Amino acid sequence: MLYPIELWVHGAGGCSGHPRGCQAKTPPRRAARRTGAPTAAGIARGSVLCVDSGTLARTLGHMAETSRPQHLIRLADFTPAQIDDLLELSRRIKRKTGRAQLPGKTAGLLFFRGSLRTRASFEAAMTQLGGSTINLSAASDFWELESQVGSVMDGKAPEHVKDAAAVMSAYVDVLCIRPKPAGNSWAIDRKDAEIRTWASYSSVPVINMESALWHPLQALADLMTLREALNNLRGKRLAIVWTNSPTPATGAVVNSLLHAALSQGMDVRVAHPPGFELDAGVLDEADGLARENGGSVETGLSLADGVRGAQVVYGRSWMSLEDYSNPTLAATRRARHAGWMLDEKVLASGDDARLMHAMPVRRNLEISDGLLDGPRSLVYQQAENRLHSQKALLMQLLRG
Ligand code: CP
Repeated sequence: MLYPIELWVHGAGGCSGHPRGCQAKTPPRRAARRTGAPTAAGIARGSVLCVDSGTLARTLGHMAETSRPQHLIRLADFTPAQIDDLLELSRRIKRKTGRAQLPGKTAGLLFFRGSLRTRASFEAAMTQLGGSTINLSAASDFWELESQVGSVMDGKAPEHVKDAAAVMSAYVDVLCIRPKPAGNSWAIDRKDAEIRTWASYSSVPVINMESALWHPLQALADLMTLREALNNLRGKRLAIVWTNSPTPATGAVVNSLLHAALSQGMDVRVAHPPGFELDAGVLDEADGLARENGGSVETGLSLADGVRGAQVVYGRSWMSLEDYSNPTLAATRRARHAGWMLDEKVLASGDDARLMHAMPVRRNLEISDGLLDGPRSLVYQQAENRLHSQKALLMQLLRG
């Protein structure tokens, strides 16, 4: 954001007629405070500031900080109160018929890999709110992008994320990115550098549409669905269960869900075969969230122990981080756990348990037809809630 401010930086000689002796001839319409840095909010358009170099540095630093857009890379970027507000707004949006709330606003959607729900729900949300989308897929719709800062761009990519983010920021009001993790090293991919690079160069809010580590949009819809099913979540038991699939995702959905549920004081049980442990940093944070919010977390459980006594069972296939960059080893490991499927018999050991899954779901491999199509399934409700919760998010971010 640009601030049309005239600045006088006074030197050692000083000046008169302006705060702290500035040499400027034009009278100040608004003087800087004599102590501390003026805030960005306190600076009127076209105002004159007379500051020394130390104050100038503090002022510019503060302005940069306060003028940064609110990004959503992970759910923890929002405060618990903001998340509660979002969920309440989502609930109200779902109950009422739509009203155009964002006329003239545009969302830019950039997909570096496939999507059904995220893409369609964002497009429907913006259209129903009276806005529009620019929807672009990598490979077919825009140039290959370089994201390394300072690199000599003599490789395949003719454009840098820095430039693409600056250009797109001029066209749209929010930038939604689904990056594609490189898949060569979990230690590198877990940093989510690509989406963070977009966020650092964008002057409009950046929304993460599922990176290697986080899927905050799915977590918002999941919290909404959990509240609809269980009302107050404190003390309720959620089982997150690994399911078998030849195309497992990263742990992004599960990581975000785990933190979201623990932030609500839930008791979370994570069941998975050996070798499918979640990211150690995510688990450390999960322990802290359980302590802070009075919930609990247990991991590494068997399928039967995980589901027993659960009120909601959430199925998801995720990659082993031990063979993250080796598809052959990963396939061999997965083949040993083909029995990790959810069906009505497995769910019967829950506490009147309901079923959730972020989708896409492999029928009769991850979850049986009977369970997916039966009365315990919340999966379509969950997918529908992506629409309502993303409308709420867009309204919070774009209406100001
Ligand atoms: N759950 C989810 O994000 O679905 P898509 O990958 O189809 O967008």
